[in-house]
Amino acid sequence: MPIQDIRTQHAHWSGIGRHAVMAETNQEETARLNHMMALYRHLRENVYAGNKLAYDKRVEPDFVKRHGRKPKDRHEIREAMLADPFYRLWAHLRRDTQETVWMARQPVVERQRTALAKKAHVAKPKYGSLHLDPDLKAPRYQSAFDMHWMPGGYHADEGAGDVAQAAIYDLGSLYVSTGGKMGPWNDGPAQSVIRWLKDKYPAFQPKKLLDEGCTVGHSTVAYCGAWPGVEVHGLDFSAPVVRYAHARAESLGRPVHYHQALAEDTKFPDASFDLVLSSMFLHETSRKAVYAIAAEARRILKPGGLMLHVEQPQFHQLPTPWSQFENDWDTHNNNEPFWGPMHDMDLEDVAMKAGFRKQDIFQENAPFIMPRPDGRLEVAKGGYWFFFGAWKR
Ligand SMILES: C[S@@+](CC[C@H](N)C(=O)[O-])C[C@H]1O[C@@H](n2cnc3c(N)ncnc32)[C@H](O)[C@@H]1O
Repeated sequence: MPIQDIRTQHAHWSGIGRHAVMAETNQEETARLNHMMALYRHLRENVYAGNKLAYDKRVEPDFVKRHGRKPKDRHEIREAMLADPFYRLWAHLRRDTQETVWMARQPVVERQRTALAKKAHVAKPKYGSLHLDPDLKAPRYQSAFDMHWMPGGYHADEGAGDVAQAAIYDLGSLYVSTGGKMGPWNDGPAQSVIRWLKDKYPAFQPKKLLDEGCTVGHSTVAYCGAWPGVEVHGLDFSAPVVRYAHARAESLGRPVHYHQALAEDTKFPDASFDLVLSSMFLHETSRKAVYAIAAEARRILKPGGLMLHVEQPQFHQLPTPWSQFENDWDTHNNNEPFWGPMHDMDLEDVAMKAGFRKQDIFQENAPFIMPRPDGRLEVAKGGYWFFFGAWKR
């Protein structure tokens, strides 16, 4: 593989996806985030491939010599790879990049913490609404640690309009770590859902939808106007996150109703929604929560409604133990302990226990839509999202 010069890489964050509530960055802070984006990309595009070379040339032959067979699953590959110097170097750099990116964001937000809370206070919402629940407790699978090393996770809340955790998450956001694959507004998952539903189920025209685990509303706002007259709701357990999401949506002129609530216990009446969906959410909950979230989704769906969760593929769908090992990095190194267990779950069982009929459940790969900075929606070559869902009859 040709080694690219890191300076020739063009993709920079440079404030793409800015809105009125985002933390402001000075030149040096912007440069640091651009550097982080280049580093993530360099590791992914130029360095990462060395892991497979190490595996093929050293690690697997050595394993075969010792055991008389190849590694049978991702766990055995991981054990063997942990001893390899190239893998250890790459893994160190990858993990260090992830920790450093938060260090590049947190001080920027800290120095503006009070100002951001003020900016995010919407005295008279023009388009949507915000519903907070001061009695809500963060689930332990969120509050016990800092998800993907983000200091304070989604849960830290100083009260009085605090939005710091959301502002940290949103600064550069997934655009920086994925090399722009999610699009300037980080709404790639929503664009993928919209395209898939319109292509596959053109007659399905949801009038009211709920986006669960919506964070700052990257995906949520993209659903506004996706179907004629659709009423869009977003839900997240974290108060800073929904405060910020509300202010962000208002500043962008998008009508979204945000709720601080648990996806396991939304408090909505039965049969409230035509579409209950989420993106990149289930893997940040727990096994028990996934069952409860599906049951609650079914309860709040109208008959004829759809539950749809956007994720990465389940391990059993990946073709080789090597690709399963590749997909398990976050479980062990990115403080995402439920990533592995969730991607091992029997999702048909989850949906059936929630009350959906076997024939109404689906698990399939959908095209990965990559929104480009110029507004084009490109279908990524070779990439896909995993869609898990079920229709309520
Ligand atoms: C990776 S983020 C989701 C990203 C977002 N869906 C998007 O497309 O940009 C996961 C979110 O789920 C929220 N969350 C985790 N557990 C939850 C629960 N039980 N109920 C509601 N929200 C939850 C977290 O606060 C966090 O904001």
